[in-house]
Amino acid sequence: MKTTLFYFSGTGNCLKLSRDLAKELKDASIVFIPDAINSDIKISSECIGIIFPVYCFGAPLIVTEFINKLKLDKEKYVFVIATYGGWAGSAIAQLEKQFKNKGIMLSAGYGFVMPGNYTPFYGAIPTDKQNKMFDREINKIKKIAPLIKERKISKLEKNLPFIDFSVTRLFKEIIVPRLHNEDKGFWVDSRCNGCGVCVKVCPVNNIELRDGKPVWLHKCEQCFACLQWCPQEALQCGKNTPGRKRYRNPEVALQDFTE
Ligand SMILES: Cc1cc2nc3c(=O)[nH]c(=O)nc-3n(C[C@H](O)[C@H](O)[C@H](O)COP(=O)(O)O)c2cc1C
Repeated sequence: MKTTLFYFSGTGNCLKLSRDLAKELKDASIVFIPDAINSDIKISSECIGIIFPVYCFGAPLIVTEFINKLKLDKEKYVFVIATYGGWAGSAIAQLEKQFKNKGIMLSAGYGFVMPGNYTPFYGAIPTDKQNKMFDREINKIKKIAPLIKERKISKLEKNLPFIDFSVTRLFKEIIVPRLHNEDKGFWVDSRCNGCGVCVKVCPVNNIELRDGKPVWLHKCEQCFACLQWCPQEALQCGKNTPGRKRYRNPEVALQDFTE
């Protein structure tokens, strides 16, 4: 394969986008970052893509940890794609800087607005609005795939630097490093029947069942897969999620997250 797409995803937007891009590129393989992070990552592909959801205006901790571990030659063509619900903050600039510190130039960085999945703040948006986003996603994939195939060096899609130095910096430097512990906000209501789906979908094995109920182990990536995939909608976070509409990308299945 000429291209390897490494992705992280809790509710499927990044997985769906990775699949769409792989289809256009034709010679790409897709690798889930949690499956690769603890192995000796040998990359023979000449082109590497990192596809990730924006969390708190930055990249998820597991994504930055993965990039830290990556051993890449300078000749590789590297690009990133951020999916986000409304404001990507400085996520792309953050990864540009991280790669630069490793002596690697980021050749392209694209942002895709996709349905948001942060249920403590909002429920899933209506299906018609989601579908418009998915159509835009497909169109943009068709535009960027030829650029990636040509190994084109493009201007990174990122926010203005002054934004980076204000709000987003606060999030990146103060809130994001604490995210592993933020699973203390999760709980289950009386509908929890101990089915264990939350245990299976957690990409970092952060949940176990004790006395038939989930317990979180404080290495959370905050992907919200546990909450979004709970078949009973019994899994909650804080006080605002009961009754809020859950979100999962309609093109992905539970098996995609459990196999
Ligand atoms: C913990 C958390 C934090 C998030 N922070 C942001 C954010 O700062 N800006 C934004 O636009 N979207 C934010 N989102 C929304 C996701 O980036 C977006 O829904 C993404 O497409 C989800 O990808 P996935 O379906 O592959 O997991 C956040 C979601 C979560 C779960």
